[in-house]
Amino acid sequence: MKEKTYIHGVAPEEQDRLRLLNRLTNGPYLDFVKIKPGDQVLEIGSGLGIIAHAIAETYPSAQVTGLEYAAEQIAGSPQDLENLTFRQGDAHHIPFADASLDVVYGRYILEHVHDPSQVLREVYRVLKPGGRVYFQENTISIMKLYPECPQFDFIWKQFIALQARIGGDGEIGVKMYHMLKSVGFGGLQCSFADEVHYPEKGTFVAWMDNIIGNVESAVDKLLAFGLATEEQISGALAELTAFKQDDMASVYFWWNRIAGVKPA
Ligand SMILES: C[S@@+](CC[C@H](N)C(=O)[O-])C[C@H]1O[C@@H](n2cnc3c(N)ncnc32)[C@H](O)[C@@H]1O
Repeated sequence: MKEKTYIHGVAPEEQDRLRLLNRLTNGPYLDFVKIKPGDQVLEIGSGLGIIAHAIAETYPSAQVTGLEYAAEQIAGSPQDLENLTFRQGDAHHIPFADASLDVVYGRYILEHVHDPSQVLREVYRVLKPGGRVYFQENTISIMKLYPECPQFDFIWKQFIALQARIGGDGEIGVKMYHMLKSVGFGGLQCSFADEVHYPEKGTFVAWMDNIIGNVESAVDKLLAFGLATEEQISGALAELTAFKQDDMASVYFWWNRIAGVKPA
Protein backbone atom coordinates (compact mmCIF):
# COMPACT_ATOMS: atom_id res chain seq x y z
CA MET A 1 0.00 0.00 0.00
CA LYS A 2 1.32 3.44 -0.87
CA GLU A 3 -0.21 5.39 2.01
CA LYS A 4 1.96 8.40 1.23
CA THR A 5 -0.23 9.15 -1.80
CA TYR A 6 -2.99 10.30 0.58
CA ILE A 7 -2.05 13.98 0.62
CA HIS A 8 -4.18 14.97 3.63
CA GLY A 9 -3.22 12.28 6.14
CA VAL A 10 -5.39 11.02 9.00
CA ALA A 11 -4.54 13.39 11.89
CA PRO A 12 -7.54 14.33 14.12
CA GLU A 13 -7.88 17.82 12.62
CA GLU A 14 -7.92 16.31 9.12
CA GLN A 15 -10.60 13.84 10.25
CA ASP A 16 -12.61 16.86 11.47
CA ARG A 17 -12.25 18.45 8.03
CA LEU A 18 -13.45 15.22 6.39
CA ARG A 19 -16.52 15.30 8.66
CA LEU A 20 -17.10 18.93 7.60
CA LEU A 21 -16.76 18.00 3.91
CA ASN A 22 -19.30 15.22 4.46
CA ARG A 23 -21.76 17.65 6.04
CA LEU A 24 -21.39 19.93 3.02
CA THR A 25 -21.65 17.32 0.27
CA ASN A 26 -23.61 14.27 1.47
CA GLY A 27 -27.16 15.31 0.55
CA PRO A 28 -26.61 15.63 -3.22
CA TYR A 29 -24.35 12.55 -3.25
CA LEU A 30 -27.08 10.42 -1.63
CA ASP A 31 -29.39 11.44 -4.50
CA PHE A 32 -26.70 10.57 -7.06
CA VAL A 33 -25.97 6.95 -6.01
CA LYS A 34 -28.87 4.69 -6.98
CA ILE A 35 -29.30 1.64 -4.72
CA LYS A 36 -31.92 -1.09 -5.19
CA PRO A 37 -33.36 -3.39 -2.50
CA GLY A 38 -30.97 -6.23 -1.67
CA ASP A 39 -27.98 -4.70 -3.48
CA GLN A 40 -24.45 -5.72 -2.48
CA VAL A 41 -22.66 -2.36 -2.30
CA LEU A 42 -19.00 -1.40 -1.89
CA GLU A 43 -17.45 1.99 -1.22
CA ILE A 44 -13.75 2.24 -2.01
CA GLY A 45 -11.80 4.64 0.19
CA SER A 46 -14.57 4.92 2.79
CA GLY A 47 -12.65 7.25 5.12
CA LEU A 48 -14.63 7.75 8.33
CA GLY A 49 -17.56 5.79 6.88
CA ILE A 50 -19.98 8.72 7.03
CA ILE A 51 -21.48 8.46 3.56
CA ALA A 52 -21.41 4.63 3.74
CA HIS A 53 -23.42 4.91 6.96
CA ALA A 54 -25.94 7.27 5.35
CA ILE A 55 -26.36 4.87 2.41
CA ALA A 56 -26.72 1.79 4.66
CA GLU A 57 -29.26 3.63 6.81
CA THR A 58 -31.26 4.84 3.79
CA TYR A 59 -31.31 1.36 2.18
CA PRO A 60 -31.60 -1.12 5.08
CA SER A 61 -32.04 -4.12 2.76
CA ALA A 62 -28.73 -3.38 1.00
CA GLN A 63 -25.47 -4.81 2.34
CA VAL A 64 -22.81 -2.08 2.38
CA THR A 65 -19.05 -2.54 2.83
CA GLY A 66 -16.50 0.24 3.19
CA LEU A 67 -12.97 -0.56 2.00
CA GLU A 68 -10.35 1.68 3.56
CA TYR A 69 -6.64 1.23 4.03
CA ALA A 70 -6.02 3.46 7.04
CA ALA A 71 -6.73 1.77 10.38
CA GLU A 72 -7.23 5.21 11.98
CA GLN A 73 -10.14 5.92 9.62
CA ILE A 74 -11.79 2.54 10.25
CA ALA A 75 -11.40 3.09 14.00
CA GLY A 76 -13.40 6.32 13.61
CA SER A 77 -16.11 4.71 11.44
CA PRO A 78 -19.58 3.93 12.85
CA GLN A 79 -20.22 0.30 13.80
CA ASP A 80 -23.90 0.53 14.73
CA LEU A 81 -25.64 -0.86 11.63
CA GLU A 82 -26.00 -4.56 10.87
CA ASN A 83 -25.94 -3.97 7.11
CA LEU A 84 -22.67 -1.96 7.21
CA THR A 85 -19.16 -3.35 7.64
CA PHE A 86 -15.68 -1.97 7.09
CA ARG A 87 -12.64 -3.82 5.80
CA GLN A 88 -9.06 -2.68 5.78
CA GLY A 89 -7.53 -3.05 2.33
CA ASP A 90 -6.21 -1.41 -0.79
CA ALA A 91 -8.51 -0.37 -3.63
CA HIS A 92 -5.82 -1.56 -6.09
CA HIS A 93 -6.59 -5.12 -4.95
CA ILE A 94 -10.25 -5.25 -3.94
CA PRO A 95 -10.84 -8.23 -1.62
CA PHE A 96 -14.02 -9.44 -3.34
CA ALA A 97 -14.65 -12.25 -5.82
CA ASP A 98 -15.21 -11.59 -9.53
CA ALA A 99 -18.79 -10.49 -10.38
CA SER A 100 -19.95 -10.42 -6.77
CA LEU A 101 -21.25 -6.84 -6.31
CA ASP A 102 -24.19 -4.81 -7.63
CA VAL A 103 -22.80 -1.32 -6.94
CA VAL A 104 -19.33 0.11 -6.37
CA TYR A 105 -19.05 3.79 -5.58
CA GLY A 106 -16.32 6.15 -4.49
CA ARG A 107 -15.76 9.77 -3.70
CA TYR A 108 -12.57 11.79 -3.29
CA ILE A 109 -10.58 8.57 -3.72
CA LEU A 110 -9.37 8.19 -7.35
CA GLU A 111 -7.39 11.42 -6.93
CA HIS A 112 -5.38 9.79 -4.12
CA VAL A 113 -4.43 6.40 -5.59
CA HIS A 114 -1.18 5.84 -7.45
CA ASP A 115 -2.78 3.77 -10.25
CA PRO A 116 -6.42 4.78 -10.82
CA SER A 117 -6.71 2.59 -13.95
CA GLN A 118 -5.79 -0.47 -11.87
CA VAL A 119 -8.42 0.55 -9.28
CA LEU A 120 -11.03 0.87 -12.05
CA ARG A 121 -10.08 -2.52 -13.50
CA GLU A 122 -10.64 -3.96 -10.04
CA VAL A 123 -14.01 -2.19 -9.74
CA TYR A 124 -14.98 -3.66 -13.12
CA ARG A 125 -13.85 -7.15 -12.08
CA VAL A 126 -15.84 -7.27 -8.83
CA LEU A 127 -19.07 -5.92 -10.36
CA LYS A 128 -21.70 -8.31 -11.66
CA PRO A 129 -22.69 -7.87 -15.32
CA GLY A 130 -25.20 -5.00 -15.21
CA GLY A 131 -23.60 -3.71 -11.99
CA ARG A 132 -23.39 0.07 -11.50
CA VAL A 133 -20.50 2.37 -10.70
CA TYR A 134 -20.59 5.93 -9.31
CA PHE A 135 -17.72 8.34 -8.71
CA GLN A 136 -17.46 11.95 -7.62
CA GLU A 137 -13.97 13.41 -7.91
CA ASN A 138 -11.93 16.58 -7.95
CA THR A 139 -10.64 18.74 -10.73
CA ILE A 140 -8.89 21.06 -8.33
CA SER A 141 -8.05 23.80 -10.82
CA ILE A 142 -11.77 24.52 -11.38
CA MET A 143 -11.95 26.53 -8.12
CA LYS A 144 -12.59 30.27 -8.66
CA LEU A 145 -12.68 32.92 -5.96
CA TYR A 146 -13.82 36.52 -6.37
CA PRO A 147 -12.42 38.99 -5.36
CA GLU A 148 -9.34 37.26 -6.71
CA CYS A 149 -6.77 35.78 -4.36
CA PRO A 150 -3.52 35.55 -6.36
CA GLN A 151 -1.41 34.18 -3.51
CA PHE A 152 -3.96 31.42 -2.92
CA ASP A 153 -4.16 30.74 -6.68
CA PHE A 154 -0.40 30.16 -6.70
CA ILE A 155 -0.49 27.79 -3.69
CA TRP A 156 -3.48 25.92 -5.16
CA LYS A 157 -1.47 25.34 -8.35
CA GLN A 158 1.41 24.08 -6.22
CA PHE A 159 -1.03 21.83 -4.34
CA ILE A 160 -1.95 20.18 -7.66
CA ALA A 161 1.77 19.75 -8.43
CA LEU A 162 2.34 18.27 -4.97
CA GLN A 163 -0.42 15.73 -5.42
CA ALA A 164 1.15 14.64 -8.71
CA ARG A 165 4.60 14.43 -7.07
CA ILE A 166 3.36 12.06 -4.35
CA GLY A 167 1.55 9.82 -6.83
CA GLY A 168 -1.99 11.19 -6.95
CA ASP A 169 -3.94 13.30 -9.45
CA GLY A 170 -5.99 16.28 -8.28
CA GLU A 171 -7.18 16.84 -11.85
CA ILE A 172 -8.65 13.36 -12.30
CA GLY A 173 -12.30 14.48 -12.39
CA VAL A 174 -12.28 15.45 -16.06
CA LYS A 175 -10.35 12.28 -16.98
CA MET A 176 -12.90 9.83 -15.60
CA TYR A 177 -15.01 9.50 -18.76
CA HIS A 178 -11.92 8.44 -20.71
CA MET A 179 -10.73 6.14 -17.94
CA LEU A 180 -14.02 4.35 -17.31
CA LYS A 181 -14.64 3.90 -21.03
CA SER A 182 -11.13 2.45 -21.47
CA VAL A 183 -11.82 -0.14 -18.77
CA GLY A 184 -15.05 -1.25 -20.52
CA PHE A 185 -17.85 0.55 -18.67
CA GLY A 186 -20.87 1.58 -20.72
CA GLY A 187 -23.95 3.76 -20.24
CA LEU A 188 -21.70 6.55 -19.02
CA GLN A 189 -23.31 9.71 -17.69
CA CYS A 190 -21.12 12.66 -16.71
CA SER A 191 -22.34 15.54 -14.59
CA PHE A 192 -21.30 18.23 -12.14
CA ALA A 193 -22.16 18.71 -8.49
CA ASP A 194 -21.83 22.43 -7.90
CA GLU A 195 -20.38 24.20 -4.92
CA VAL A 196 -21.44 27.85 -5.03
CA HIS A 197 -20.91 29.66 -1.74
CA TYR A 198 -21.39 33.28 -0.63
CA PRO A 199 -22.22 34.91 2.71
CA GLU A 200 -26.02 34.77 2.37
CA LYS A 201 -25.72 31.00 2.03
CA GLY A 202 -25.10 29.35 5.39
CA THR A 203 -22.33 27.22 3.88
CA PHE A 204 -19.82 29.93 2.90
CA VAL A 205 -17.68 29.90 6.06
CA ALA A 206 -17.72 26.09 6.22
CA TRP A 207 -16.61 25.80 2.58
CA MET A 208 -13.80 28.29 3.15
CA ASP A 209 -12.74 26.40 6.30
CA ASN A 210 -12.57 23.30 4.11
CA ILE A 211 -10.30 25.08 1.60
CA ILE A 212 -8.10 26.50 4.37
CA GLY A 213 -7.88 22.99 5.90
CA ASN A 214 -6.86 21.56 2.53
CA VAL A 215 -3.93 23.97 2.32
CA GLU A 216 -2.98 23.47 5.99
CA SER A 217 -2.94 19.68 5.56
CA ALA A 218 -0.28 20.03 2.86
CA VAL A 219 2.03 22.64 4.40
CA ASP A 220 4.78 20.22 5.50
CA LYS A 221 4.85 18.45 2.13
CA LEU A 222 4.75 21.72 0.12
CA LEU A 223 7.82 22.86 2.06
CA ALA A 224 9.58 19.47 1.91
CA PHE A 225 9.21 19.27 -1.89
CA GLY A 226 10.32 22.87 -2.30
CA LEU A 227 7.03 23.75 -3.99
CA ALA A 228 6.37 26.81 -1.81
CA THR A 229 8.06 28.92 0.83
CA GLU A 230 6.69 29.61 4.30
CA GLU A 231 6.00 33.22 3.22
CA GLN A 232 4.03 32.09 0.18
CA ILE A 233 1.95 29.68 2.25
CA SER A 234 1.25 32.16 5.04
CA GLY A 235 0.39 34.81 2.42
CA ALA A 236 -2.15 32.44 0.84
CA LEU A 237 -3.65 31.52 4.22
CA ALA A 238 -3.94 35.20 5.20
CA GLU A 239 -5.70 35.90 1.91
CA LEU A 240 -8.15 33.02 2.49
CA THR A 241 -8.86 34.16 6.06
CA ALA A 242 -9.64 37.69 4.84
CA PHE A 243 -11.77 36.26 2.01
CA LYS A 244 -13.76 34.20 4.51
CA GLN A 245 -14.64 37.42 6.38
CA ASP A 246 -15.43 39.42 3.22
CA ASP A 247 -19.13 40.18 2.91
CA MET A 248 -18.65 40.73 -0.85
CA ALA A 249 -16.89 37.42 -1.61
CA SER A 250 -18.15 34.37 -3.50
CA VAL A 251 -16.53 31.06 -4.47
CA TYR A 252 -17.32 28.58 -7.27
CA PHE A 253 -16.35 24.95 -7.74
CA TRP A 254 -17.75 21.82 -9.41
CA TRP A 255 -17.14 18.17 -8.53
CA ASN A 256 -16.99 15.87 -11.54
CA ARG A 257 -19.40 12.96 -11.38
CA ILE A 258 -19.71 9.87 -13.48
CA ALA A 259 -22.15 6.98 -13.43
CA GLY A 260 -21.72 3.83 -15.54
CA VAL A 261 -22.67 0.21 -16.01
CA LYS A 262 -20.68 -2.99 -16.54
CA PRO A 263 -22.21 -4.39 -19.75
CA ALA A 264 -24.44 -7.40 -19.14
C1 LIG B 1 -10.77 12.13 1.14
S1 LIG B 1 -11.08 10.64 1.97
C2 LIG B 1 -12.74 10.29 1.41
C3 LIG B 1 -13.49 9.38 2.31
C4 LIG B 1 -14.93 9.08 1.91
N1 LIG B 1 -15.00 8.56 0.56
C5 LIG B 1 -15.84 10.25 2.07
O1 LIG B 1 -16.42 10.68 1.07
O2 LIG B 1 -15.96 10.77 3.18
C6 LIG B 1 -10.14 9.42 1.06
C7 LIG B 1 -9.92 8.14 1.84
O3 LIG B 1 -9.37 7.16 0.95
C8 LIG B 1 -8.42 6.39 1.66
N2 LIG B 1 -7.53 5.77 0.68
C9 LIG B 1 -6.57 6.39 -0.05
N3 LIG B 1 -5.99 5.50 -0.88
C10 LIG B 1 -6.59 4.30 -0.68
C11 LIG B 1 -6.43 3.00 -1.24
N4 LIG B 1 -5.51 2.77 -2.18
N5 LIG B 1 -7.24 2.01 -0.82
C12 LIG B 1 -8.18 2.25 0.14
N6 LIG B 1 -8.37 3.45 0.73
C13 LIG B 1 -7.59 4.48 0.32
C14 LIG B 1 -7.76 7.40 2.61
O4 LIG B 1 -7.15 6.76 3.72
C15 LIG B 1 -8.95 8.26 3.00
O5 LIG B 1 -9.56 7.79 4.17
